[in-house]
Amino acid sequence: MSSSTYAKQSVKIELGDRSYIIEIGAGLLDEGAVYAKLPRAAIALIVTNTTVAPLYAERLKTALARHYRQVLQVELADGEVHKNWQSLNQIFDALLGHGCDRKTVLFALGGGVVGDMTGFAAACYMRGVPFVQVPTTLLAQVDSSVGGKTAINHPLGKNMIGAFYQPQLVVCDLAALDTLPQRELSAGLAEVIKYGPIADMAFMEWLESSMDALLARDRTALAQAVRRSCEIKAWVVGQDERESGLRAILNFGHTFGHAIEAGMGYGTWLHGEGVGAGMVMAAELSQRLGLVDAVFVARLRILVQRAGLPLRGPVLDAADNAGRYLELMRVDKKSEAGEIRFVVIDGPGRAAVRAAPDELVREVIDSCC
Ligand code: NAD
Ligand code: GLY
Repeated sequence: MSSSTYAKQSVKIELGDRSYIIEIGAGLLDEGAVYAKLPRAAIALIVTNTTVAPLYAERLKTALARHYRQVLQVELADGEVHKNWQSLNQIFDALLGHGCDRKTVLFALGGGVVGDMTGFAAACYMRGVPFVQVPTTLLAQVDSSVGGKTAINHPLGKNMIGAFYQPQLVVCDLAALDTLPQRELSAGLAEVIKYGPIADMAFMEWLESSMDALLARDRTALAQAVRRSCEIKAWVVGQDERESGLRAILNFGHTFGHAIEAGMGYGTWLHGEGVGAGMVMAAELSQRLGLVDAVFVARLRILVQRAGLPLRGPVLDAADNAGRYLELMRVDKKSEAGEIRFVVIDGPGRAAVRAAPDELVREVIDSCC
């Protein structure tokens, strides 16, 4: 595969009058024309962080200067540990401090942390202003920038405070992935991998044959991974925007993964790393529930490992590790009346959400940590 075969692509999220386009291409970030159809406004506010700003903010600012009289910028501290009220308030301080009106358009320039916080700020400021996602991590391009979940963390639980609020546009610039640390690329691959077992075994096969190209950042392979991931996410979100059912399948591996993130302290394990080990645990649980066979679990395990992700979960409590996981997992948003609900693989390429006996979950945790 060569990058010369690659061409710009679009995926549409169908949500009636809140539908929007995901643009996928190399060098899109500073292509002024990409932003031409956004709602008209006097002010644009770029929300980014201290790592991404020096890499890409000037270029985005130049592109936006064609469309807005004033392009402002706020730089947040970098890291999952800063996905909190304090950072959110910095966005509100900037908006109010500059006298931004309700037409002001927010641009989230960065990974999922910046994207989730900017979306939440946009949902709240003056009860809702337009926002655009310009995701610069693989994880954000294949998942977090799409579908309108926005949030901050609480010390007691991940993404516990937030809103459903859709962006006006998502601009995935594949060239921005060139500067991404390898560990972050692997973390993004976790969210790519999840789409196979839950929805598309042909995609899983493609990932098996393309993993080396993806890790080498072959642009054509990355474009295909981003496009197919966004297509699957668009298909799910288009049917169940607010997660009353189907959308929960996108959380495959996340129940265990969120427990790992919160239990280790936000930022110690990357979100994608938690999801990687979490998918292996969720697949093991599926096998113990008699839904998939050992061959399927082994296939997934190999893919997770080849992506450079951890296969085993960490020990969160030496005295009662499974007990600590269970305690953390009960705070999951899918829990109902204290009962944990897991996304399981209900046969290759198909996911379901169901409860499982604590004893079985304990066995999985004991064998996977
Ligand atoms: P992140 O936002 O922390 O970004 C990872 C790191 O890469 C950061 O240090 C960031 O500054 C840096 N970075 C970003 N772009 C870069 C680039 N192009 N070059 C160099 N460095 C760059 O993490 P993430 O993995 O993008 O996102 C994880 C977050 O997304 C979690 O908070 C998770 O809960 C959330 N998430 C949300 C959804 C959703 O549907 N809203 C889905 C999945 C994950
Ligand atoms: N990342 C899970 C979702 O968007 O529903």
